[in-house]
Amino acid sequence: MSIYQSIQRISPILWWKHSFTIENLNLNPLLKKFFDENKNCPSFNDRHEHFKYINDKVIKEDPIDYLEFGVYKGDSIREWSSLNKNPVSRFYGFDSFEGLPEDWTYTMRRGEFNLNGNIPHIDDSRVKMVKGLFQNTLRPFLKSFRRIQRIVVHLDADLFSSTLYVLTSLDPFLEKGDVLMFDEFSAPTGEFKAFIDYKTAFYREFKMVSKVPFNGWLANQVAFLIEK
Ligand SMILES: C[S@@+](CC[C@H](N)C(=O)[O-])C[C@H]1O[C@@H](n2cnc3c(N)ncnc32)[C@H](O)[C@@H]1O
Repeated sequence: MSIYQSIQRISPILWWKHSFTIENLNLNPLLKKFFDENKNCPSFNDRHEHFKYINDKVIKEDPIDYLEFGVYKGDSIREWSSLNKNPVSRFYGFDSFEGLPEDWTYTMRRGEFNLNGNIPHIDDSRVKMVKGLFQNTLRPFLKSFRRIQRIVVHLDADLFSSTLYVLTSLDPFLEKGDVLMFDEFSAPTGEFKAFIDYKTAFYREFKMVSKVPFNGWLANQVAFLIEK
């Protein structure tokens, strides 16, 4: 038996309980390395300035297929539909409107953001809502979805499971030049881990284009261009 196999056999005795705290701590150096490698990308004070920069300078107000995962009361999809006025743009918002399907943190529990299934109204005929768990709605949606322009994905579902499910399901539709935006990128075991796992498993490459820094080297709102 190798040393590694011996350690593996005895480790559940020495370390008997899985710890999310340890997992979080262990991912922080990876997160920091990621931000260090991209420290020169443009930074913004808040997500409003950030969205405007992406629309004006990255997308250049071209028509887009904007897919948002995690809509809640509709603040960000509403903001995007008013920023990008192109009449050909399409906006799809995915949410159960029943809140997080599982616990996220000690304070953000299952059911957080629950709107009892009520869909927020957005006064723009280009905006469509897709109600239900992503795990039930996204693949049926994609069966009839034909991309007609650059895809912009806004990942704001907080959870690892939701984010990874979306990225892996959308992968066949994503192309070089598409944009991925995250809203809670600095939560190591949430959106960040989903992004890293997706990138690793699908051999994708990305360029960080912009971010909203907070608390030193961290940034929650981060945007990437797909390079490969
Ligand atoms: C942080 S809120 C979205 C905030 C919104 N983008 C904004 O800017 O106001 C997260 C949302 O993700 C939704 N969500 C998370 N996981 C989901 C899943 N697997 N299926 C459907 N909705 C999900 C929750 O219902 C919740 O409304």
